[in-house]
Amino acid sequence: MSLHKDAIAPHGGQLINRLATPEQKQELLSQADNLPRVTLDKRAVSDLELIAIGGFSPLTGFMSANDYKQVVNEMRMVDGLPWSIPITLSVSEEVAAPLTEGETIRLDDPQGNFIGILELTEKYRYDKVHEAVKVYRTNDEKHPGVKVIYDQGDINLAGSVWMLERQSHPLFPKYQIDPIESRTMFRDKGWKTIVGFQTRNPIHRAHEYIQKCALETVDGLFLNPLVGATKSDDIPADVRMRCYEIMLENYYPKDRVILAIYPAAMRYAGPREAILHAIVRKNYGCTHFIVGRDHAGVGDYYGTYDAQEIFDEFEPGELGITPMKFEHAFYCKRSGQMATSKTSPSLPEERIHLSGTKVREMLRRGEMPPPEFSRPEVAAELAKAMRVTE
Ligand code: ADX
Repeated sequence: MSLHKDAIAPHGGQLINRLATPEQKQELLSQADNLPRVTLDKRAVSDLELIAIGGFSPLTGFMSANDYKQVVNEMRMVDGLPWSIPITLSVSEEVAAPLTEGETIRLDDPQGNFIGILELTEKYRYDKVHEAVKVYRTNDEKHPGVKVIYDQGDINLAGSVWMLERQSHPLFPKYQIDPIESRTMFRDKGWKTIVGFQTRNPIHRAHEYIQKCALETVDGLFLNPLVGATKSDDIPADVRMRCYEIMLENYYPKDRVILAIYPAAMRYAGPREAILHAIVRKNYGCTHFIVGRDHAGVGDYYGTYDAQEIFDEFEPGELGITPMKFEHAFYCKRSGQMATSKTSPSLPEERIHLSGTKVREMLRRGEMPPPEFSRPEVAAELAKAMRVTE
């Protein structure tokens, strides 16, 4: 796949494409009924998709035991390239038992549709508690990411994958922009510096503030809300996307922002996930990545700035994307605007602290978030969505 020479290099140097060609697809379809079958859960479907479209470059498949161990223990793959979260396909012993290395395995989605294949190279056991402690910094089963590991199968299947075809997203086809396309869009717009923004919450004013602070110094903003699996009390992706549309319509310069879905599942791994989020956005062509307070965190498992400090564990330039770190932003009553402690001398009682969690709690109590919290149009959209779902 040819990339523009001035564009930021994908992780590992090459943008991966594991989408079957029409000929490959026909060939695979003709074998479909004779292949051993593994059914993927929603997270594995997302991982397959991200491998296939190059979001997880340089991965071409699910990780081998050696890469897995090195990633868990050292945040690196065997060849030394930084990688922070294992990308694995876990199945039960019963499912793994009849599969043999060297076989082509048919991968089905949870509805039983044939969506890809795995060229099985290895089956291996792994230590779930060790993975939890190293990657999630806790062995607590109440942590939603740790719970997924504890609930999944005991055997990892490794090998390269192919995805049968790129189907358009059922809800957000307009915003399905794969790395090869985002890179082309950035080039066509003449953007040299692009900041990526990861989010799983409805946009609030602190998000808007840090995005716009970043946009003051770069050419373009790549708004990339995660739309894969999230925990059940997070606000659904369709509601969040409507909020983004409203914001772009009213409060953002259209020619400097691209809204695109990030098809990944959320892992809630805080610092380790911030590194993964940055690497993936580099693959989409971003040169910078926003990391604010408690990025990808959940509950009290991580310190407010752990997800920023972890970037210092890598040599400058090693990750190939520059983190833009923001302090906890709040509404400052004294200056009548959003600020952080870096820009405001206000006293604690003059600060209104905002968070996605607080917005969710207010909405559940039937309260409208105040304007210091959310733009009124977004608050109205969220309140409407809550009335429909309750
Ligand atoms: S996340 O799990 O995707 O990180 P969220 O959507 O809430 O959750 O956050 C998106 C980004 O905005 C993250 O980089 C996060 O650190 C940042 N962020 C959220 N709220 C604030 C805030 N009040 N101040 C500074 N950064 C924030």
